Amino acid sequence: MTRDIFKPSGRIQFGIFFQGVNSGTIWKAAESGSQTDFESFRRIVQTAERGKFAAFFLGEGLRLREHLGRPHALDVVGRPDAQTMLAALASVTTNIGLVATQNTTYNDPADLAHRLSSLDLISGGRAAWNVVTTDNAWTGANFRRGGYLDHADRYRHAEAFVETAKRIWDSWETPSGPAHRVLHQGQHYTVDVTPRLPRSPQYRPVLFQAGDSPEGRDFAARQADVIFSAHPKFDDAVEFRRDIVSRSVAAGRGANAVRIMPASEFILAATDQEAREKKDWVRSLQIGPQQAIAYLEQFWGRELSAYDPDGPLPDIDPVVEETSETRGSGFHGAKARQLADQWRAEAKDKGLSIRQFVTSRTARIDSTFTGSYNAVADHLAQYARVGAVDGFNISPWLIPTGLDDIVNHLVPELQERGVYPTEYRGSTLRENLGLETPVRLSQQVSV
Ligand SMILES: Cc1cc2nc3c(=O)[nH]c(=O)nc-3n(C[C@H](O)[C@H](O)[C@H](O)COP(=O)(O)O)c2cc1C
Repeated sequence: MTRDIFKPSGRIQFGIFFQGVNSGTIWKAAESGSQTDFESFRRIVQTAERGKFAAFFLGEGLRLREHLGRPHALDVVGRPDAQTMLAALASVTTNIGLVATQNTTYNDPADLAHRLSSLDLISGGRAAWNVVTTDNAWTGANFRRGGYLDHADRYRHAEAFVETAKRIWDSWETPSGPAHRVLHQGQHYTVDVTPRLPRSPQYRPVLFQAGDSPEGRDFAARQADVIFSAHPKFDDAVEFRRDIVSRSVAAGRGANAVRIMPASEFILAATDQEAREKKDWVRSLQIGPQQAIAYLEQFWGRELSAYDPDGPLPDIDPVVEETSETRGSGFHGAKARQLADQWRAEAKDKGLSIRQFVTSRTARIDSTFTGSYNAVADHLAQYARVGAVDGFNISPWLIPTGLDDIVNHLVPELQERGVYPTEYRGSTLRENLGLETPVRLSQQVSV
């Protein structure tokens, strides 16, 4: 039964989440790089590796984000394909894990398994797959099969997809073969394939998962090695850990089977006061007047350009009929009218303008660690002690120099406290995350 008692590792690790298209990265500052130049990626991944980061993540968006039926005019355009970029980055790095976010709704399992195996071999066992299902409708319009899957269907699909990919990776008796033919016949996939690549030094790519609903959490508890969570705040992180431990024990995997790395943002300086000032500057660049209006338009479902960003929230009501998940991920699951009433009341109560309100909502307020290197290191050491998380997946607000102060000043403070690695444990991602080699699945299935 000892397997079923969660034991904190007493350490944390870092990953970096290079999102590309989002409002959290400032692309217009003088020191910002380009979102498509290889140099931006090379510079930041090598900084992360200097700081012994476990993993480098690329997000995925298979279509430009849309807003009121048009591409979002305020987004930066340009997000190179994750696996192509990671293969290039494999050649300029030696230890850091390379994580491709890839969705299960629009890919095919045998094809994706082969491409991820290729990355795993090219990188010497450093590849990982961040499994997402994608929650918007517009992406579907890019694909042959079109359409949009509802929430429950997306996770059923994801389960069959991941099972199939794992069977393909597990089809080798020994590291170099021979491989079994994999037959999968199910509601979602019929696959008959013999793998074309041998196993990688880490057996198979590490599986991350990002998706926070109860279905998403159960899916992760059954399938994932690591959850890329949305719960960095201390109490919330402790509760999320408790929830995942109970779900993974229920799934028969043991209390320590699933690692947790929440998304987070760090705004650091030599003193707390300087860090707070820096935060105000960062926020003012992240949310300009147009971004504030565009953000509300997603939820209101109508043009709001006549409203003053420095004035109160719109008194006009949202377009309720068009309200659905398909309007965009920002709206996911919310009820327009209710939300508008609630936000208007909150903004009025706190005396916030549109821009101030949107800034407070979008600034990943719950995921931001602001303070001196010393204070933030003390705070993070607390997470390590109780095992609230296994690490943090940091979204830098500046690319490519956004990790410099973390690596130069925060990492040494954490190392001094004995809660952060001073060296990579091995050459594969699985070794560096301290993950066990997977148990081989049976080869022939018919579901
Ligand atoms: C931290 C985090 C990062 C995510 N990154 C991506 C991404 O890069 N691309 C994507 O299509 N979806 C991404 N997703 C969204 C998931 O695909 C999923 O659609 C969404 O969370 C809805 O599923 P849920 O209801 O289980 O939360 C992310 C989700 C989380 C929580």
